[in-house]
Amino acid sequence: MKKSAAKRLLFTVLAGLSFAGAAQTTAPESVPSAAEMQRMQWFKDAKLGIFIHWGIYAVDGIDESWSFFNGKISYPDYMKQLHGFTASHYDPQAWADLIKRSGARYAVLTTRHHDGVALWDSAQGINVVKDTPAGRDLVGPFVQALRKDGLKVGLYYSLADWSSPDYDVFTRKEKRYSNDPVRWQRFVSYYQGQLRELSQRYHPDLFWFDGDWEHTAQQWQADKTREMLRNDNPQVILNARLPGNGDYATPEQGPPITRPAATYWELCLTTNDSWGYQQRDHDFKTPTQVIGLFADTIGMGGNLLLDIGARADGTIPQEQVDILDALGHWIHQYPQAIYGTDAGVPKDYYSGPSTLSADHRTLFLFVDGKPNGPILVKGLMNKVVDARLLGSNAALKTQLIGNAVNVPGLLYIDLAGQTLDPQMSVVALQLDGPLKLYKKPADASAGG
Ligand code: GLC
Repeated sequence: MKKSAAKRLLFTVLAGLSFAGAAQTTAPESVPSAAEMQRMQWFKDAKLGIFIHWGIYAVDGIDESWSFFNGKISYPDYMKQLHGFTASHYDPQAWADLIKRSGARYAVLTTRHHDGVALWDSAQGINVVKDTPAGRDLVGPFVQALRKDGLKVGLYYSLADWSSPDYDVFTRKEKRYSNDPVRWQRFVSYYQGQLRELSQRYHPDLFWFDGDWEHTAQQWQADKTREMLRNDNPQVILNARLPGNGDYATPEQGPPITRPAATYWELCLTTNDSWGYQQRDHDFKTPTQVIGLFADTIGMGGNLLLDIGARADGTIPQEQVDILDALGHWIHQYPQAIYGTDAGVPKDYYSGPSTLSADHRTLFLFVDGKPNGPILVKGLMNKVVDARLLGSNAALKTQLIGNAVNVPGLLYIDLAGQTLDPQMSVVALQLDGPLKLYKKPADASAGG
């Protein structure tokens, strides 16, 4: 694991701990109010978002911001990349169309990473309009293209800005100052001012914060930030990296094994090993792995935010286009098992991923590869009215064995002779009512 990744993980864990302890109305683990549920509905239903890391780090193909922070390159050399950031082949509509094809319902663009280089013509700080050959706002056209395709707009913004003369931390080894409230307040006003520009200009549906770990919620004046953003856009969703103020948890890279405690969560994941474009990184996940990860994520009630890194000229590497297209090809065959669903049954009941229709009357089972025999569901209290293979729509034979009074048996679903999806097949079990699972331990029900 890269040092930065290890550090991020630690902070994610710490951040998770602090959420659990914070008495916030919108903390990820708290029970949301009806109004909050309504605000979060599109996000919950969307299941897939595409994350785009785009910044001057793509010029040399090095770690975004972290490369100078960790001393892999000097700060002046890092900033020389400004001169190579052209965006000369940037086609925001092609980006939005690719995202739409992938099956995603929203996207998140890095408008300003920890290096402080803004992708829009901010009134403050460094930006690509005045400081790079790109010479124009790159955020606005993308926002417009997403909206044209009916996609929701997410803007990534790093609270930390290691380039700002008013920010205390410069690199891992160097601090500009400590304990200077006047200077810190200048920084807070600067970052809140930038957010206000994004908020009032582009009216995003979601803000994706990052870089929060160097300061507390109080130091960031996070309450005020949230209030300001909600004032501008009352329905806006905020991830939980605005400390103490977020709507949803953001596990990073490591896919969860069991269902996370947070009501709303989103796993962010790279397609290779880098967030931004790095020409030397060919360690791409296969479409089969990505589809498997996606099914697993939605099966536990989460969203996947799948990351791609654009080149400095604005083109997207073919390998990433191919992954998105393969994922989209799969998703578009099984929309009813994906969008608007709830988490499925725990793995004790069915060994693979599963989802539930919104009315909980259809259980969708994802079948990885080619099973050797029938697939098995345990503990289902409902009667199965109909079992079908999605796609071919073939009716499937089922067999129930070992059931007793009040104790459901084992339900076998026969896939023999069916044409299965080489990626992942989907079986739909229509139930006689909302899903009811058997919960008692076996010995408690001995004798029926
Ligand atoms: C971490 C890294 C950052 C990356 C982000 C994406 O916070 O610091 O480089 O943009 O994760 O989730």
